Amino acid sequence: MGTKPNRSFLEDLITKRRSIRKYKPDNPPEEWINSMLYCALMAPSPSNSQPVRFFRISSKSKRDTLYEALNSGRQKFLRDIESKNEAKRLRNWINTYYRFSEFMFKAPILFAVGTITSYKSFSKRMFEEGIIGHDRREETSLDITVGLALKGFILRGEELGLGSCILTGPLVFIPNIEEILGINDALIKCFITVGFPDEKPDMPPRKSISEILSEI
Ligand SMILES: Cc1cc2nc3c(=O)[nH]c(=O)nc-3n(C[C@H](O)[C@H](O)[C@H](O)COP(=O)(O)O)c2cc1C
Repeated sequence: MGTKPNRSFLEDLITKRRSIRKYKPDNPPEEWINSMLYCALMAPSPSNSQPVRFFRISSKSKRDTLYEALNSGRQKFLRDIESKNEAKRLRNWINTYYRFSEFMFKAPILFAVGTITSYKSFSKRMFEEGIIGHDRREETSLDITVGLALKGFILRGEELGLGSCILTGPLVFIPNIEEILGINDALIKCFITVGFPDEKPDMPPRKSISEILSEI
């Protein structure tokens, strides 16, 4: 029988980290952001392809255009659901996800995170050679790789006292993100905010290990 390992620094860091949606106005030091990016860079990737790209959105005009696009996306959805039976429930959804997207424009630092389109996974190559059919898991390795890069990024931020929040909600409102940002060689998978936290959220409930583990 093994003994339960002592609670470690890493376990504490992982437990303490929260998604932060409200920030102090101060800008985090550049070296700290670089250190977070370094930790992202150290993540494993398929065949060491390192396909993840971070686009820091510093240009005010790009931020403004994205914000306008988010608002027009919301307006379009609200118009589209007007005649539906379940309009009220859908409106609540849209407005909730809008709130959970809009705060990113108030964060001191905002990145769009994507993967390069030139990357060819094993499954993509096998498909192109006609050996397998279209693979519905085609994007899996790219998505996993983004997640791993972000995990290093957000944990290093946590260690430095910086908060962050990953967002995919805005992707639903803004279908043409790459076009707005002038990106033609990457597919955006999410946004991530960074800054000094100005809130201390409680930990949302977590499942128990037995709920996520099956022995088969
Ligand atoms: C892939 C992904 C997408 C997410 N998208 C959003 C989002 O659009 N807006 C938001 O406010 N939070 C978003 N989150 C944050 C989650 O809501 C949050 O991680 C979850 O509620 C657990 O809270 P915690 O991070 O504080 O532990 C996202 C998280 C992940 C991993």
